Amino acid sequence: MPSSFQEMWAELLPVGRHAGSGGYRRFAWTGADAECRAWFREQAAARGLTCETDRNGNQWAWLGDPAAGDAVVTGSHLDSVPDGGAFDGPLGVVSAFAALDGLAARGARPSRPIAVVNFGDEEGARFGLACAGSRLTAGVLTPERAAGLRDADGISLPEAMERAGHDPGAIGPDDERLARVGVFVELHVEQGRHLADTASPVGVASSIWPHGRWRFDFRGVADHAGTTRMEDRHDPMPAYAATVLAARARAAAAGARATFGKLSVEPNGVNAIPSLVRAWLDARAAGQDVLDRLVGEIEGEAREHAARDGVRVELTRESFTPVVDFAPALRDELAGLLAARRPYEVPVLPTGAGHDAGILAAKVPTAMLFVRNPTGVSHSPAEHAREDDCVAGVEALTDVLEELACR
Ligand code: GLV
Ligand code: MN
Ligand code: MN
Repeated sequence: MPSSFQEMWAELLPVGRHAGSGGYRRFAWTGADAECRAWFREQAAARGLTCETDRNGNQWAWLGDPAAGDAVVTGSHLDSVPDGGAFDGPLGVVSAFAALDGLAARGARPSRPIAVVNFGDEEGARFGLACAGSRLTAGVLTPERAAGLRDADGISLPEAMERAGHDPGAIGPDDERLARVGVFVELHVEQGRHLADTASPVGVASSIWPHGRWRFDFRGVADHAGTTRMEDRHDPMPAYAATVLAARARAAAAGARATFGKLSVEPNGVNAIPSLVRAWLDARAAGQDVLDRLVGEIEGEAREHAARDGVRVELTRESFTPVVDFAPALRDELAGLLAARRPYEVPVLPTGAGHDAGILAAKVPTAMLFVRNPTGVSHSPAEHAREDDCVAGVEALTDVLEELACR
């Protein structure tokens, strides 16, 4: 007997939750990730689904023959950001299994294969690159570049895979697998407040803002905090600090987003002027031109402040996802079919958050459903969705699967 939505949710809840912060630390290829993967296999087995892990470490649970092609695929990811919330990712995977149960309860007979997917390393929390599993599969992350990705301890992505029991020898583009996918639908908690002030627990995605991650290395000269005169210093910290303030002001002026959320300092001593401040910028905007201009302005400010202090600055773009406009016909079809069966509107809304759906969209017809988030908070232990809204999301996904796979 498969677990209900509530049971599945309760089973996953303790996995990778940090006792101190209450947030999740489900990083790719760690013990918590292995527990999530074991949970996925158990859910597949309980439903008689065929479970497989592809060459790039993504998990698939199949109802019907995968080789038949034109499959309807749904799911999301189970990894998290540092101290993330319970919903970002897992809601889409749990809802996918629950929607399969919903189809069975309706007596629906799929005429196409259906798969539930758990994409590996969506958040990029450990190796710095978001959506590594789907990017590898789609061929937008090369095996060579993936091999060069390292975590904070210097462990490479292939080494981490190997330690977790996954053979990294064949990572790379997987056209054969993608060719089996007729359509991909990812359900996700909304990471914003579009739905919060409406009567709609569910919405459909229109687009994903272009976004990326840039590493700034501010290099100065280490010296003694007490004996080095202020005018003699090549301290990279003030240039970094000025860049943060400039990024905030420039992004606000552009109606865009800029965040420095991760920082490492060398040698990281209270009484030493740093030799290196390494900081990561996450920047996003509704349009590519605005984003390009914003990052250019932030870079300009960084260089100006660094030059003033005799500090060198280097910029490296670590990842980038161009704007994603979800297939309009599919988007409108899903919004229409959901609205026709519900007493509320089903809003179509853009998002500034990245998703595996954004990577898949370049390869296969793709859509996203969003479930209302009453506060809009995400990437935080405070992330939340009400249980009745989650159940409404499962109902919506069940309708979508029935329409796409059982007509
Ligand atoms: C992932 O959730 C992202 O938007 O960075
Ligand atoms: Mn996320
Ligand atoms: Mn997510």
